[in-house]
Amino acid sequence: MNFLEESCTFYSLSPELIESCDQFDCGHSDLNEFFLKDAENYANQLLGKSYCFIDNNDLKSIVCAFTISNDSIKASLLPRGRKEKVTKQIPHVKSSKNYPAVLIGRLEVSTNYKNRGIGKSLMDFIKSWFIDAQNKTGCRFVVVDAYNEDLPIKYYISCGFDFLFSTEEQEKRYSNIQSNDPLKTRLMFFDLILLKNPS
Ligand SMILES: CC(C)(COP(=O)(O)OP(=O)(O)OC[C@H]1O[C@@H](n2cnc3c(N)ncnc32)[C@H](O)[C@@H]1OP(=O)(O)O)[C@@H](O)C(=O)NCCC(=O)NCCS
Repeated sequence: MNFLEESCTFYSLSPELIESCDQFDCGHSDLNEFFLKDAENYANQLLGKSYCFIDNNDLKSIVCAFTISNDSIKASLLPRGRKEKVTKQIPHVKSSKNYPAVLIGRLEVSTNYKNRGIGKSLMDFIKSWFIDAQNKTGCRFVVVDAYNEDLPIKYYISCGFDFLFSTEEQEKRYSNIQSNDPLKTRLMFFDLILLKNPS
């Protein structure tokens, strides 16, 4: 059973909604704080829109939330091998081109609802928006700057994402991060054509 589709309702995240719900906790203080304090300002500045699902059987429970913004993959900024990998399904590819993408700026499932397949359903839901015929602009990729931690990386890989850079060393080099400094996040991508034209 798809719990999100069958037992939850989808909302734009607003201060009123947050006020009417129990405190949202995903176990990551940065993310909790963003949704509680900053999401509205972010939306007002047209920098990102935040959404959530509420449990129909407990209208005070935010099950999961996410924020998305427009983005792009700049092929010219990638190492050659990675450029070929990212654009291999695109006909007449131009190495200088920017390819349209949507950025998942934040995504989380409440600690009360983890490990039940909700994260995966949420990702399917987000991807489906951008291959829908009603989508008003072209969007080829979903991208994310994922926390460089075991669980989020496993999660995104299980949702079909791949690393934009092949190794942490390569990503540090291209992001101007000193090799001794930690790489706190990893850029990952999903090519939406895989859903539009499944092989
Ligand atoms: C990462 C997160 C979204 C996963 O949500 P979830 O609903 O628990 O995930 P699901 O039950 O749909 O599991 C999806 C995949 O995630 C991975 N995963 C989930 N929980 C895991 C755990 N405890 N240990 C290892 N892998 C896990 C698995 O690969 C799983 O796929 P599988 O069941 O086919 O092996 C959730 O743990 C979360 O909100 N974490 C805090 C915020 C965060 O890290 N967000 C992502 C970075 S922006």
